[in-house]
Amino acid sequence: MCGIVGYVGPKAAPTIVFDGLKKLEYRGYDSAGIASINGTLELRRAEGKLFNLANKLHESPLVGQTAIGHTRWATHGAPIERNAHPHADERHHVAVVQNGIVENFIDLRTKLQAQGHVFVSDTDTEVITHLIDQGLLDGHTLLEACRLAFAQLKGAHAIAVVSQSAPDTIIAVRIGNAGGVIVGLGEEENYLASDIPAILEHTQRMVYLEDREMAVIMPKSVTYQTLAGQTVSKTAVTIGWDPVSAAKGPYRHFMQKEIYEQPQSIQNTLRGRVDFLKNKIEFEALSLTHEEAKNIRRIIIVACGTSAYAGLVGKFVIEQLARVSVQVDYASEFRYRDPLVDEQTIILAITQSGETVDTLAAMEEGKKKGAKLWSIVNVQGSMAHRISDGSILMRSGPEIGVASTKAFTTTITDLVMLGVYLGQLRGTLSPEKQVEMIKALAHLPELAGEVLAEGYNDYDHIANLYHQYTDFLYLGRGSNYPIALEGALKLKEISYIHAEGYPAGEMKHGPIALIDDKLPVVCIATQDHVYDKMISQIEQVRARNGLVISLINEGDDAVADKSDHVIRIPKVHPFTTPIISVIPLQLLAYHIAVWRGADVDQPRNLAKSVTVE
Ligand code: AGP
Repeated sequence: MCGIVGYVGPKAAPTIVFDGLKKLEYRGYDSAGIASINGTLELRRAEGKLFNLANKLHESPLVGQTAIGHTRWATHGAPIERNAHPHADERHHVAVVQNGIVENFIDLRTKLQAQGHVFVSDTDTEVITHLIDQGLLDGHTLLEACRLAFAQLKGAHAIAVVSQSAPDTIIAVRIGNAGGVIVGLGEEENYLASDIPAILEHTQRMVYLEDREMAVIMPKSVTYQTLAGQTVSKTAVTIGWDPVSAAKGPYRHFMQKEIYEQPQSIQNTLRGRVDFLKNKIEFEALSLTHEEAKNIRRIIIVACGTSAYAGLVGKFVIEQLARVSVQVDYASEFRYRDPLVDEQTIILAITQSGETVDTLAAMEEGKKKGAKLWSIVNVQGSMAHRISDGSILMRSGPEIGVASTKAFTTTITDLVMLGVYLGQLRGTLSPEKQVEMIKALAHLPELAGEVLAEGYNDYDHIANLYHQYTDFLYLGRGSNYPIALEGALKLKEISYIHAEGYPAGEMKHGPIALIDDKLPVVCIATQDHVYDKMISQIEQVRARNGLVISLINEGDDAVADKSDHVIRIPKVHPFTTPIISVIPLQLLAYHIAVWRGADVDQPRNLAKSVTVE
């Protein structure tokens, strides 16, 4: 979704901003632009990918030491050049970029047009530019003009402003949850970004704006205040990610790199939390007493997309280990049905980005009703992380590919640890079971490495055979049912092949009608308590000439004999199987997308963090 980058300092600001925008390409966008101050305000904008903007900058370079830039994901107005951000007023005094939606833009535009302002785009954002310009025309300083303008906006926004009336200043504001506004602190230079990777190569010292906070960013100083004008003192956090891990390295795609990083990211999320000597789990930012753990009546997991599917695995594991009821809700639905929540409810938000607007809204709804907020997040300092009463960091490192992979497996690892943690506090785990679970967790990095070893499965061969098929069905049972959903989601996201995931037992209640010799059916049939049931589903697919691609445990000849193709995984503890069984499905989707020549890291229409409803 939209991205913002800004720079003030002695260096070539447009170049730094352009490079930052490149690092945000993964978020998904359809046009881009930069505004720079060099005596006067100048803009370059282009529809489509950043190379179009690069060509424009090549033909007509921008210079200056203050600049802001934006990658736009269209909401209001087609993705064409005149709708791309930044937007400038007719006098070219002010340029604005915005993430979010100005809900009252029609009223504001009518008012501004009556005052003589001329609109040249179809966007909601342009009203902000004219509102600020009107403030300057009325004799206000830039800061005052911004404050007056921001106060008139309805909705959630992340905004950055530059103006030739204050040539070495960027003004930024965060209102509500339309994505992050992060100030990066340098030496005699400062940065602005909606997301950490954009500026991480320049600084690891970041300051996050909270709701209704503004920053006045200059080369040698940054000051913070509320929208009401009250000074705020902010503390910088040091981001642990190293810039190298945000680069592609020897891999062809970020998604491929992130799939192969899973042994390491799983290891990272376990580190310091699993006590192998005492066979216990401890979380650094979630310490409960036995009493508090016993008082939990139910946990409601709120999440979207892949994170919601991880939540479904969490339900399976936490209910069994900690004997507490777990409900999984799509965050986008949760707040619209007056959910039953009380003080003994935990709202557990799962969100890689920590900025997904629906998930944040679900958290707010839970808080309003008295629940405690927990979260599992990847981005430290993100909104979800900050508003939680307790949080578990995924420690996946930056996930750049739009299709989530390593964040999914670290989340499930965290959920298994959470199940053990709650089980040990609630007294629902026998000492033997606790030892068994700790052992299962300890083996995970090694098992993930085994599945990823060269030649373990020939995905490329299967992808070559099947990349031209138009529909896929994925079936799984138990904790592999969410893996069927996730496998299908991965395939449709990056290859644009229609794919459905189903709990295998439901197949006969509808999807069976689809089965013929043109439908590949991916059957997850690991040797667990529902293995025999899976075999009978496979028989039903075969009886209708469906093409069976089975995901099985090593050495399982029984299912291999009934399958057109097999993908193998080692034998894994049933509670941690989904963490390993999803990896081949990520790779299958990846190879199929590559065969189709698809844009793996930036699939069409998708965004990495979805900051609009
Ligand atoms: C995953 O491949 C998707 N791109 C998407 O479903 C994603 O998981 C969802 O938008 C939730 O994002 P979050 O974890 O950042 O909240």
